[in-house]
Amino acid sequence: MKGSILSAVSAAALTFSGLASAAGIEEWKTRSVYQVMTDRYARTDGSTDHECEAHLFCGGTWKGLMNKLDYIQDMGFTAIQISPIVKNIEEHTAVGDAYHGYWVEDNYSLNDKFGTEKEFKDLVAELKKRDIFLMVDVVVNNMVQGFDNVIPPKIDYSRFNPFDDKKYFHPYCNVTDWEDTQNYQDCWLYPYGVALADLKTEDPAVVSELGNWVKELVSNYSIDGLRIDAAKHVNDEFLPKFVEAAGVFSWGEVLTGVTNDMCRYQTLGLLPGMPNYLEYYPLNEAFNGGSFTDVTKIKNEAATGCNDTFALGSFVENHDMPRFASRNQDLAIAKNAMAYILLNDGIPTVYQGQEQHFKGGETPFNREPLWESKYNTEAPLYVLTSKLNKVRNNAIKRDENYVDSKSEVLKADTNYLCQKKGSGDNVVVWCITNKSSQGGKDRISIAGFEAAEEVVEVLGCKHNQADVAGSVTIYFNKGEPKVYVSAAALKGTGLCPETVPDVEEEGDDSGAGVLGVSGGLLAAAVVGSAAMFLA
Ligand SMILES: *[C@@H]1O[C@H](CO)[C@@H](O)[C@H](O)[C@H]1NC(C)=O
Ligand SMILES: *[C@@H]1O[C@H](CO)[C@@H](O)[C@H](O)[C@H]1NC(C)=O
Ligand SMILES: *[C@@H]1O[C@H](CO)[C@@H](O)[C@H](O)[C@H]1NC(C)=O
Ligand SMILES: *[C@@H]1O[C@H](CO)[C@@H](O)[C@H](O)[C@H]1NC(C)=O
Ligand SMILES: *[C@@H]1O[C@H](CO)[C@@H](O)[C@H](O)[C@H]1NC(C)=O
Repeated sequence: MKGSILSAVSAAALTFSGLASAAGIEEWKTRSVYQVMTDRYARTDGSTDHECEAHLFCGGTWKGLMNKLDYIQDMGFTAIQISPIVKNIEEHTAVGDAYHGYWVEDNYSLNDKFGTEKEFKDLVAELKKRDIFLMVDVVVNNMVQGFDNVIPPKIDYSRFNPFDDKKYFHPYCNVTDWEDTQNYQDCWLYPYGVALADLKTEDPAVVSELGNWVKELVSNYSIDGLRIDAAKHVNDEFLPKFVEAAGVFSWGEVLTGVTNDMCRYQTLGLLPGMPNYLEYYPLNEAFNGGSFTDVTKIKNEAATGCNDTFALGSFVENHDMPRFASRNQDLAIAKNAMAYILLNDGIPTVYQGQEQHFKGGETPFNREPLWESKYNTEAPLYVLTSKLNKVRNNAIKRDENYVDSKSEVLKADTNYLCQKKGSGDNVVVWCITNKSSQGGKDRISIAGFEAAEEVVEVLGCKHNQADVAGSVTIYFNKGEPKVYVSAAALKGTGLCPETVPDVEEEGDDSGAGVLGVSGGLLAAAVVGSAAMFLA
């Protein structure tokens, strides 16, 4: 039943020659994505006092989202990824209602829980007006019905549109072996409360129907990109055909921390991009007792193993994983994680509520309604995110090659990660630390600029001058991240209209005076300010 790898490869060669030249992928790399869970983003009336149950509908709508686009745009995002938009089952199941949009019943009707077709089209028009890209989540692996937990599930196939017959589906079996491709692709996922009837995505009739469907969907609603849910659970050969039919940049969910398992989707030409689960795991560990060296190790593996790491989505939170702050509530730590996401290689992806330091754990508690925050635009992570997006958007505006320039790791150890991205006077040099808000003063010298270049640390609005080796001394305190750009790059951005000299802060002195020198970068040319600390 499964095609051979060979047929996947030849399908890839055909597909990607077309796709790579289409506008999609390169434009998407310049974007920064805010992930919206439609039911939890904003209600039509914009009210912020509505309480709801985590597993039921909360009442967010497309109109509510349209009315609150300033919140997203003022944070500097240039794309949104939203919940699936088509009609879902209406049953109340043992695992709740279909508020998330993943329990599709009819591909040819929009989900009226989120609004009317006119309201959706109004949202699309407003996004175009603001030049915000729209990415829509789509489900290709299965269709869903309520399930009373009696095996085998009783499915009324006639209720599905268009796959209204048993012949389009794999016979029931429960996924039990996550190492066996055949098992996790052909069997039914998570049978509990709902049955996820597994489509035969290798059946030519199914492939052709889904191709036509997605082509219409993209064109009817001017969709700019897709997230393909559970991409790992459909057969390889299906994916490039589906992506080609869609004709827009797509990233597929491939939930794995193993480099080869992830990268093969790009090297075989199955998918243009994926959310970067490879870095997700070590990044979380680095802030919770692990080391940044594990992040750079996997980054290097991916750089050689994947074809295009710049098309991977950087994230620390999404709607499937416990919130970053459910594990570590320290605000400084969350700031460092946010800085990584926005300044690293790849397409930054921030999940709604991350900028409000939401702390929900496992699903559905990681899906808090955003209105609980009152859309506070002065929240520290909101303010930080808007500055970081400004830095990135500005660097892209000044140099179109910025997104495709590979970051250089300047320092990586248990406490610090420093990277540099870009070239000439368009470099961004940043350091993150896992020291937390309890972290004391510390300083390290980092190279990466031109000799004697005037630089600005944009989060604290402090100026400094690189020495003749292009090094700058970075003063850490209380575990805050640091982000430096050339002073010349700031003009016209509105960032740091005024700056003060960058010197060590006054006050508490615990942990001061530790010296770190970026590996080998200072070489023989060490002089000036960097040399002061070598004593
Ligand atoms: C809708 O299309 C998706 C593929 O995009 C498929 O997985 C899903 O089962 C279809 N649902 C129905 C009800 O046809
Ligand atoms: C399906 O298999 C999983 C193990 O992968 C098991 O935990 C679950 O109880 C099974 N469910 C059914 C309905 O057989
Ligand atoms: C796209 O629009 C046409 C014309 O209104 C409609 O017939 C078709 O069902 C729509 N397709 C989808 C996938 O929404
Ligand atoms: C990915 O890169 C490898 C090695 O350079 C190349 O052989 C392969 O054709 C590329 N695949 C695609 C889909 O571009
Ligand atoms: C930072 O990393 C060090 C070294 O692994 C570890 O001892 C420390 O606990 C980490 N800090 C935090 C806040 O996780």
